Amino acid sequence: MPQIDTFIETQKIQACVRDLGNKISKDYQGKELVVIGVLKGAFIFMADLVRHLTVPVSCDFLSLSSYGDHTESSGIVKITQDLTQPIEGKNVLIVEDIIDTGLTMDYLLKNLHTRKPQSINICALLSKPSRRKVHVDIHYVGFEIDDTFVVGYGMDYASLYRNLDFIGVCKT
Ligand code: IMP
Ligand code: MG
Repeated sequence: MPQIDTFIETQKIQACVRDLGNKISKDYQGKELVVIGVLKGAFIFMADLVRHLTVPVSCDFLSLSSYGDHTESSGIVKITQDLTQPIEGKNVLIVEDIIDTGLTMDYLLKNLHTRKPQSINICALLSKPSRRKVHVDIHYVGFEIDDTFVVGYGMDYASLYRNLDFIGVCKT
């Protein structure tokens, strides 16, 4: 079992998530929001984020696969579990753990736009701008990081470490 070094500590994550929640609440004042979590990586971030939202919120989830157990995006994305409700006419906020090459989010945005929502914005806890292969407009971003593979707070390596309450890096 490799050692995990702390990359972003719990208190820093929690303060960031609270700030994101406050900002989103302000921006959507007077509106209703459909928050869509991208499984599995976003489940912890989304659970914390929605508890800071003060506008009426409904939650839905979808699963995408682009990765398998590798740390490099394959570029081939598929929806392995879809939303349970239509989003036509709704204000949608996609919640994602991390945007790396951007290929996953690019695919997801194109797919969701065909369902004619009123608006779609993205909230990502982490972004690696130096890794981008396609441009993605991320409306709310927690932390911009360098090209480092991180785990914890929902994010995995080979299905492990999602349960860590901090964000870490695997020391090999
Ligand atoms: P993209 O399509 O390259 O932007 O990949 C996005 C997805 O890859 C994210 O939703 C994560 O599931 C996964 N991913 C990218 N970088 C990391 C990382 O550093 N740790 C864990 N998962 C990652
Ligand atoms: Mg993900």
